[in-house]
Amino acid sequence: LSNGLAQTPQMGWNSWNFFACNINESLIKETADALVSSGLADLGYNYVNIDDCWEAPTRDIKGQLVPDPKTFPSGIKALADYVHGKGLKLGIYSSAGVFTCQVRPASLFHENDDAATWASWGVDYLKYDNCFNLGIKPIDRYPPMRDALNATGRTIFYSLCEWGEDDPALWAGNVGNSWRTTDDINDTWASMTTIADLNDKWAAYAGPGGWNDPDMLEVGNGGMNYLEYRSHFSIWAIMKAPLLVGCDVRNMTTETFEILSNKEVIAVNQDPLGIQGRKVQVFGTNDCLQVWAGPLSGTRFAVVLWNRCLESGTIKVSWESLGLESSTIVSVRDLWKHEDVVTDAVSSFGVTVDAHSCEMFVLTPKVPHSRV
Ligand code: GLA
Ligand code: GLA
Repeated sequence: LSNGLAQTPQMGWNSWNFFACNINESLIKETADALVSSGLADLGYNYVNIDDCWEAPTRDIKGQLVPDPKTFPSGIKALADYVHGKGLKLGIYSSAGVFTCQVRPASLFHENDDAATWASWGVDYLKYDNCFNLGIKPIDRYPPMRDALNATGRTIFYSLCEWGEDDPALWAGNVGNSWRTTDDINDTWASMTTIADLNDKWAAYAGPGGWNDPDMLEVGNGGMNYLEYRSHFSIWAIMKAPLLVGCDVRNMTTETFEILSNKEVIAVNQDPLGIQGRKVQVFGTNDCLQVWAGPLSGTRFAVVLWNRCLESGTIKVSWESLGLESSTIVSVRDLWKHEDVVTDAVSSFGVTVDAHSCEMFVLTPKVPHSRV
């Protein structure tokens, strides 16, 4: 969507994966504080997104949305002011249906009113869900909210959450800044890997202004181990997925923080070229040894060697799979070890990767004849 936003995938935090409906204004403020004090905000995680359950069970007498007086007694405007005061942005949630998924009031047929309400509160981001949609097609329900947000005059990030129904990659490029490509993620290896494969299909449609969204991060929520979360984060990064942290950032372990704060991996995600990396080579039983790769600015490539097998294995990326002449001399930097590992690789590069882990690299070809 050409509203000037999403030149790179959005980064931030969302309440749903860890807190579900257990949210309130103190949590949101403490989260904003923790994003800043931990250093995550400085690394680019700047959206603080409230998901479902922020609303009172019914609209007010004028038909306007109101925050739940028990959990958000100071209102969303005050919260937006607080979050803005920290240098961050505030996101809100509704559904393109008659209720949200947790059966709070939603915005189908109320697009203009609700967009105006959020704009008046200083909201910067809308996640727009798909529950209770009366069977109306997404392509008819999502553009009206784009137009309503646009009409407010406030620049608001528009995140479509219609679970990949009717292949949004094919039509949402001029509707939203990102679109979910799949059902909800959960905090398991099986869910994460399945979703990665589904999202990969739509790589060609992602780019500055509009991104495929394989759902929010589960890193730090406890259902996967350190190496599995490192795989999750690396693959989301190379797929140019939104990096929306889904854990309790007030209580992160050292390992969780190490993953989420890897600057070099974040830089791949935020690379200005904005081309979604793809699965380019597979080997092994059930194709469980995988190479994911994609171009970066400056003629470089990002590569993830991902071992989805039950045992460790060697994975090699061939220059051919990247579209490079096999004689090209390439230097290789390891983004998890934070060191240059090879300066003169030709034809391919491989390492042994632990089970359910990955290694991630930036490859820089030498181009000796580029200046004549
Ligand atoms: C749907 C969305 C989730 C979350 C919940 C909230 O399932 O896909 O991301 O927003 O609704 O109820
Ligand atoms: C159901 C759930 C929603 C969402 C979708 C995803 O409809 O109620 O919250 O998870 O599935 O397909």
